[in-house]
Amino acid sequence: MQHLSDPTVESRVNAILAQMTLAEKAAQMVQVPFAYVTEEEAFLWARRGAGSFLHVMGEDARRIQREAMSTRLGIPALFGIDAIHGHGLNRRAAIFPSQLAAACAWNPALVEEMGRVTAREVAADGLHWTFSPVLCLGRDTRWGRIDETFGEDPYLAGELGAAIIRGYQGDDLSDGEHILACAKHYIGYGDAVGGRDSCDTEMTFRKLRETFLPPFARAVEAGVATIMTAYGSIDGTPFTASRKAMREILRDELGFEGFVVTDWDNVNSLVEKQHVAADLDEASLLAARAGNDMMMTTTAFYDSAIRLVESGKLDEAVLDEAVRNILRVKVRMGLFEQAMDRGTPECMGCESHRTSALLAARESVTLLKNDGVLPLDGNTRNITVIGANADDIRAQYGDWTYFTHPHMSTEAIPERPYVTLLEGIRACAAQSGASVVYARGCGPLFSETDDLDAAIEAAKGADVIVFAVGDVIEQAGEFRDRADLSLSGRQEELFLRLCALQKPIVTVLVATKPLCLTRVTESSGALIAAFNGGQYGGQAVAEVLFGEINPGGKLPISFPRHSGQIPVYYNSLPGWHGERYVDLPETPLFAFGEGLSYTTFAYSNLRVDQSKLQVRVTLSNLGDHKGSETVQVYVRDLVSSVLTPVKRLIAFQKVLLDAGESRDVVFSLKRDDFSLVLPNEQRLVEPGAFALFVGGSSKDSDLLRLDIVLA
Ligand code: NOJ
Repeated sequence: MQHLSDPTVESRVNAILAQMTLAEKAAQMVQVPFAYVTEEEAFLWARRGAGSFLHVMGEDARRIQREAMSTRLGIPALFGIDAIHGHGLNRRAAIFPSQLAAACAWNPALVEEMGRVTAREVAADGLHWTFSPVLCLGRDTRWGRIDETFGEDPYLAGELGAAIIRGYQGDDLSDGEHILACAKHYIGYGDAVGGRDSCDTEMTFRKLRETFLPPFARAVEAGVATIMTAYGSIDGTPFTASRKAMREILRDELGFEGFVVTDWDNVNSLVEKQHVAADLDEASLLAARAGNDMMMTTTAFYDSAIRLVESGKLDEAVLDEAVRNILRVKVRMGLFEQAMDRGTPECMGCESHRTSALLAARESVTLLKNDGVLPLDGNTRNITVIGANADDIRAQYGDWTYFTHPHMSTEAIPERPYVTLLEGIRACAAQSGASVVYARGCGPLFSETDDLDAAIEAAKGADVIVFAVGDVIEQAGEFRDRADLSLSGRQEELFLRLCALQKPIVTVLVATKPLCLTRVTESSGALIAAFNGGQYGGQAVAEVLFGEINPGGKLPISFPRHSGQIPVYYNSLPGWHGERYVDLPETPLFAFGEGLSYTTFAYSNLRVDQSKLQVRVTLSNLGDHKGSETVQVYVRDLVSSVLTPVKRLIAFQKVLLDAGESRDVVFSLKRDDFSLVLPNEQRLVEPGAFALFVGGSSKDSDLLRLDIVLA
């Protein structure tokens, strides 16, 4: 990725800045929410020279841009949108699996492609910027936005984050096919106490640097052009007001060269929600000084900033710096040359983009249990599909699509093509000659249409029952955290009644997050985590059921056995009072990294060349199916001056092996992979012994171990 600052760009930026009035500078720092202002106001903001607008598409965006370009300096506005798993707020776009589902593929190239396709479609809509990726960690699964994360692990989130940023931004931001990425939410948002959206975090800067900063550091390294400030706070200071987080860490240490945008109305929240500022002027002063360059939706910042500078409370140089950061990105994007009609309009939802969405869905399917019922064989003549989520495209899409996002019309008719699980099963069964019966039974929410008796009746003639369980969009997203992650509505009751039929049950989780499936796992013959697979999620799962593809997904997040166990994540710090609650094991139901295949992989011959920090293991496919395995490398610092995680992912590789094939898989580690963060916030490697673990999941039973000593 190119560096954002270069001398030609800088002199151009300075030349524009030199002509700007104080008011124009203040306007440049404002991002206007199109849906929350009148059309007249939107045009007024364009004439004032607002830096950006969000959630406006197509012709509306073009009209506003024309107005902006016709002003004295003609500075183009940036148009931003939440294109989170595809450009989903446009009804014609290709819809990919959610970030969480895509993370199950453990495949940076696939996620990069997801970014590339999304960028093309966003650009074709006249927009320049997606508020993606989310680099918060999904550790407390009660949080409503778990689906937006790449899971619980900082290394995996960083690798996938860097990949999707490469996809969004490409090598040349000005080529019209790429857009700005936005790493968010900086920082710790996902670790809010109790999984409560936007609450305080029990965070220290040491902890932040050790666990939560690395994905953002990777994003900066990958050249991310923008970063969004989180809602929460650290040790009593809102992140929006943290000079340390933004100026010292992000800019001075990590060398971030793009611009920082706040999250939704963060400046006003300093007054209204967090009560650290008496009024908007005070809040604006705090936010600008801390290093926020653009204020999302807090349009009142404009008047405050002008007042603050005119009264001598705020140095105009602070505004200059922020505006420089914004203009640099605009110049780099080539917006002054071409602000509109970039990209390729015909690419929206085109076949090749949809193929990418299908490939992503296929790789994200994760098989968690299989007692032999899968893949379905030729003896399976009668399949009964049960559960609302088997045929509910809203549940399959999850958050941030035109059809599911609360800001958009949830009543809109979904745009084809898409394939639900039921439709996918019907298509596969048509080829195998099996018959398919469907009964809704019930869904995740109580409904008058729940009919458990009809579902039981329909299942009586089945050779196999496919039961789709999960959640719906009303149970996830911003402001939608759950205290209880057990199966909602009458899903568990229906499951127990199905069990009484004594037939094989394949349970498919179509959900935004891991749910507590302890009972369901015990009595299902097979269990698949599909999460939100996007437009072809149903097809991908059906192909796995029928053995048309061999599943290779691995969990990027742990499954709790019970809500009372949350948070549960693999890279915890060591404790010593046993591994049980009085009433439950402390271990997760399914661990980070877990995922089965129709073939069997074996690991052997783990060795290390210490001088090169090169690790080598032999991976063998012992079965008779071709399949992919994600080889994972974890480290444990055996003696350290501060507590370090019991295990920490430092590398992974996805390998495709033919039936019967063996191959050496080689990892070149870096010394820094063994580092920790001291109480004084310094990162370093403490010499001594380390255990390396290599295998197919984070579970001890799946790992080979080798100890090494670093000088
Ligand atoms: C608030 C959300 O927290 C953020 O992720 C999103 O990008 C903005 N709203 C804009 O929609």
